[in-house]
Amino acid sequence: MLLHKISCLLTYILLINPLHAIPSIIPLNVTCHDKCGNISIKFPFGSGSGCGHPIFSKYIKCNYSILQFSTSTGVYAISSIDYASNTLVITDPLMSTCSSMQNSGSFTLDRGGPFSIMPDNIFVLVGCSRTSPVFDRNADFCDSGSGLTVCKGLYSCNGVVGIGLEPNGPISTCCVYDPFGLGYGLDLPKLQCSSYSAVYGFGGNEGDPMKWQYGISLEYNGSYYSDGCKNCEESGGFCGFNSGLDESFACKCQNGVNTNSNCYGRGLFVWSSLSLSFFVVFLGISGFLFSWMIALF
Ligand SMILES: *[C@@H]1O[C@H](CO)[C@@H](O)[C@H](O)[C@H]1NC(C)=O
Ligand SMILES: *[C@@H]1O[C@H](CO)[C@@H](O)[C@H](O)[C@H]1NC(C)=O
Ligand SMILES: *[C@@H]1O[C@H](CO)[C@@H](O)[C@H](O)[C@H]1NC(C)=O
Ligand SMILES: *[C@@H]1O[C@H](CO)[C@@H](O)[C@H](O)[C@H]1NC(C)=O
Repeated sequence: MLLHKISCLLTYILLINPLHAIPSIIPLNVTCHDKCGNISIKFPFGSGSGCGHPIFSKYIKCNYSILQFSTSTGVYAISSIDYASNTLVITDPLMSTCSSMQNSGSFTLDRGGPFSIMPDNIFVLVGCSRTSPVFDRNADFCDSGSGLTVCKGLYSCNGVVGIGLEPNGPISTCCVYDPFGLGYGLDLPKLQCSSYSAVYGFGGNEGDPMKWQYGISLEYNGSYYSDGCKNCEESGGFCGFNSGLDESFACKCQNGVNTNSNCYGRGLFVWSSLSLSFFVVFLGISGFLFSWMIALF
C-alpha cells in the first residue's frame, strides 16, 4: 500500500513534473524575427508582441506569415515596405481591382496614428447611387478632369460585372476622390457606393487597367529610430519594448535574453539557466533512485 503510494508519487515527480518545470526554469523570451513571410521586418516594425516600436505594434502584426495592418475598418495585408522612403503598400482583399469587383470594403486610417495616405494614391468610388453625396455639386468631391480617364479605364474591365455593371458602360456612377479631400476615411455605406478601388501607380501602363498597381500606399513616421536602438541592432539584437505599462525600450537578443542596452556579452545567463534546469532534473532523478532504494530496503 505504502509502496504503491510512493511509486505513484515518484511517477508523478519523474514523468509529469519535469515537463512542467523545465519551461518555467528557463525564462526564455520569444525573440523577434527579421522576416514575415517574404517581407523583411526592420524597426519601427516588429514581427511579434514586444518587437519594434510600441506605437507601431498596435497597427502591424505578423500573423501566420502575413504582415497585417489593422485599422478600425479592418485588417489589411501589407504587400511591401520601402524603408528608404518610409512607405508601405497595403492591399484590401475586399477592394475592387480590374479583374475582380465586389460590393464591399471601406478604408479608414486611424487619426493620430503614425501613418498618412500618400498623395499619389487614387481612390475610385465605383457603382455609386445617383443620390450619393459625392455627386453633390456644392461639395465637389469628384475629380472630373484626369479622373475621368481612370474611371473609363476601370469601367472597361470585365470585373465590373461583379458589381452589376456592363463593361464599357457609362461612367456616371464613378467618382475619383481627390486624395487631399479624402482626409482619413472612405465610408462606402455613407457615400452610397458599391465598392472602391485604390491605385498607387500605373507602372507605365496608363492604358491597361489590368496592369495598374492596386493597393494603398502609406507613409509612416520614420523618426522613432534612436541611438539606443542603433546600438542594440549593431550588437545583433532587435529593438523592442517591455510589456509593462511604460512599454520601455528593450533590446531583444537572438538567444532570448532581453536587456535595456545591447546584446554584447549576454550569452552567459541563458547558459547558466539551462545548466540549472539540467541540475534540477538531475536532482529529481537521483532523488527518485534514492527513494526507490529506500523503498526496496
Ligand atoms: C512575396 O510573395 C508574394 C507571393 O507569395 C509575391 O507576390 C511577392 O512578389 C513577393 N514579394 C517579394 C518582395 O519577394
Ligand atoms: C490573423 O488573421 C486572421 C485573418 O485576417 C484574423 O481573423 C485573426 O484575428 C488574426 N489574428 C491575430 C492574432 O491578429
Ligand atoms: C513623428 O514622430 C515624432 C515623435 O517621434 C513626433 O515628434 C513628430 O511630430 C511626428 N511627425 C509627424 C509628421 O507626425
Ligand atoms: C525576459 O524578459 C523579462 C522582461 O522583459 C526579463 O525580466 C527577463 O530577464 C528576460 N529573460 C531572459 C532570459 O532574459
